[in-house]
Amino acid sequence: MKLLHTAQQFRAFRDELHGTVGLVPTMGALHDGHIAHLGAARAVAGVDHTVVSVFVNPTQFGVGEDLDRYPRTLGEDVKRCAAAGAAAVYAPPVEDIYPPHLPPCPVGPPAVADDLDGARRPGHFAGVCRVVMKLLQRVQPDVVTFGRKDYQQLCVVRAMIEDLFVPVRIVEVPTVREPDGLAMSSRNRHLDPDARRRAKALSKALRAAAALAARGETSPAAAESAMTDVLNAHGLEVDYAVVRQHRSLETVDTLSPEHCVALIAAHVVNADQSRVRLIDNLALDETIAG
Ligand code: PAF
Repeated sequence: MKLLHTAQQFRAFRDELHGTVGLVPTMGALHDGHIAHLGAARAVAGVDHTVVSVFVNPTQFGVGEDLDRYPRTLGEDVKRCAAAGAAAVYAPPVEDIYPPHLPPCPVGPPAVADDLDGARRPGHFAGVCRVVMKLLQRVQPDVVTFGRKDYQQLCVVRAMIEDLFVPVRIVEVPTVREPDGLAMSSRNRHLDPDARRRAKALSKALRAAAALAARGETSPAAAESAMTDVLNAHGLEVDYAVVRQHRSLETVDTLSPEHCVALIAAHVVNADQSRVRLIDNLALDETIAG
């Protein structure tokens, strides 16, 4: 497996590659949830070669967010990708993705980016769209994977790719969870033991919303307050706990298990008062084991 840093190195590698290529875009600190993307690219789309990009993208972090604290574990990431059968890890320096002499060309995010994380993290999805377009242009993959764990990101990227006619197929990768239901995330490593224990409230809250929908509850507000109660009971600070329409993420008047998704963002506070913001979601016709 190759470890490539510069655009020149990547181009030389890409020119020699024959067969179909899958891109797994990541910010590193890889866990089993990321590794599942390599399996999905092969199993769902039958790609011949998988490239994992590892790039902590500065433009998707706002002022006061955790850009500096974001875990960076390239050595470990490379070993995991090699063991999982990746063809290459592409880990460019910031100046290769954002050359200082080039004036920025923003890629406006589509409307599905306006609310939820888009409203709470101004500029976040503009940064995601810009880096995803750059990575797609550089890697020229046939297939790109995105996780359902970052559901709004998946919806935003899908809308952008569709609107801009980007010739790539998106493979959606299901969320990989810890045994207690917590969705795997690179940020989980910032949780102290007690915060880690309480973080399972996110999946518990989502399960509560799905259970209400399964019992025939039709009020979105009832599901939203059930989720908020679970999160508060575990001492989490709720950013949002909402039910929305699949894909469009528009608000809904009626809960419908087939058409709705519950989404949560909440802060878990460690004993030293540092805060870890976690997100999770669940289609209301799905369940979480555990
Ligand atoms: O989901 C992520 O890790 C990032 O947002 C992505 C898609 C790699 C873009 O930086």
